[in-house]
Amino acid sequence: MKLKIAPSILSADFGKLNEEISSIEKYSDIIHVDVMDGHFVPNITIGAPVVKWLKTKLPLSCHLMIEHPENFVADFAKAGAQTITIHQETCPHLSKIIRQIKDLDCRVGVSINPGTPVEMLEEVIEEIDEVLIMSVNPGFGGQSFIEGALGKIAAVREMAPEIDIAVDGGINAETGRLCVEAGANILIAGSYIFGAKDRKKAIESLRG
Ligand code: DX5
Ligand code: ZN
Repeated sequence: MKLKIAPSILSADFGKLNEEISSIEKYSDIIHVDVMDGHFVPNITIGAPVVKWLKTKLPLSCHLMIEHPENFVADFAKAGAQTITIHQETCPHLSKIIRQIKDLDCRVGVSINPGTPVEMLEEVIEEIDEVLIMSVNPGFGGQSFIEGALGKIAAVREMAPEIDIAVDGGINAETGRLCVEAGANILIAGSYIFGAKDRKKAIESLRG
């Protein structure tokens, strides 16, 4: 599987998001947008009205760390999201929201926190395009990688050999390599890329 790099704009300068995106898009595959509501996670970021103004040729992947995502997925689809990722922990009616996202003609991702076992994905894995393994507890950039993610990546790869597996949190050249070896094919990185002096070089180092 081709490795894809997805810079997370959480660590970019929110005052000039489109300039920040232009600084990395030539070297990247996906733009990762973190949406936080201050309830599911202890931080607040941006919603669909801001996503609508992001300018990029790359696909936008919206990672919804919010409660009641069913009330917002249509807005993100309309704002230009190609992929909408919801959290298993926020969706008691998971297969229903998966259907809802598909009906909006978006790709569907399901994410699990470090404390959530991969078994929670078993019943829906055939219906989704992507699994996003959180390798930190979501809410903030710049946290350290939680090693337990590696075994979870390998378990999902075994469950679904063809599925896209993304990993998010504490990704750098070293942890990224371990994730790819475990079976991940999408590396999401925020502070490692946007905090680097040379962003192009940082992205290249993630490609190994
Ligand atoms: C964390 C977000 C991540 C975040 C990762 O809650 O979901 O996408 O930007 O940041 P780093 O790469 O700095 O750990
Ligand atoms: Zn994210």
